[in-house]
Amino acid sequence: MSDVTIRPAVASDASGICHVHQRAVRILCRFDYTADQVEGWIGARVPQNYVESMTSGEQLWVAESYGQVVGFAGRKGPEITAVYVDPHYARQGIGQQLLQVVEQSAATGGVPCVYLDASLTAVSFYTNAGYKSVENGTHRLRSGVEIACVRMEKRLMRQRAASGS
Ligand SMILES: CC(C)(COP(=O)(O)OP(=O)(O)OC[C@H]1O[C@@H](n2cnc3c(N)ncnc32)[C@H](O)[C@@H]1OP(=O)(O)O)[C@@H](O)C(=O)NCCC(=O)NCCS
Repeated sequence: MSDVTIRPAVASDASGICHVHQRAVRILCRFDYTADQVEGWIGARVPQNYVESMTSGEQLWVAESYGQVVGFAGRKGPEITAVYVDPHYARQGIGQQLLQVVEQSAATGGVPCVYLDASLTAVSFYTNAGYKSVENGTHRLRSGVEIACVRMEKRLMRQRAASGS
């Protein structure tokens, strides 16, 4: 696997995040959604959107390899808002590493159970990570376009407070 570091995102990562987001959806999701849905999902995204997310209470993390953003993930409270990996780096365990960092942050913050709206493309990925499907649904995107998704959730292990006793 490439040399990958997971770290909290900063504003200067926004264009790298936007690039990965667009490539992941356009390339990896194209077999599960129509071209119109893909463009409604991703076409209008700009780096400033991610800066705004970061300043409105959504935590973002990036996977970085040799100074380049190759994946990112997000969480807002109990909701996992994003896990995306650049297609060139797919199936190398980077998505799993990102998800583990997000879950760890939720557990440390006292969140007992996390949920997400999984794209049809990502259901196997989340199932492999221990998520259970709750119901099939649709996710209404900012653009107004609706895409099929699956609500999934996972109960987290309780984190022990670090103490000497
Ligand atoms: C879903 C996604 C984040 C997975 O990232 P990744 O780095 O490729 O995933 P990993 O390498 O960590 O995969 C871990 C395990 O999940 C499962 N998995 C991942 N992608 C899978 C796929 N396309 N089909 C079936 N199983 C898959 C496998 O069990 C895999 O282990 P293995 O490679 O040893 O078989 C990535 O494919 C992606 O960005 N997809 C498009 C965007 C998207 O739909 N994101 C989710 C929005 S809700």
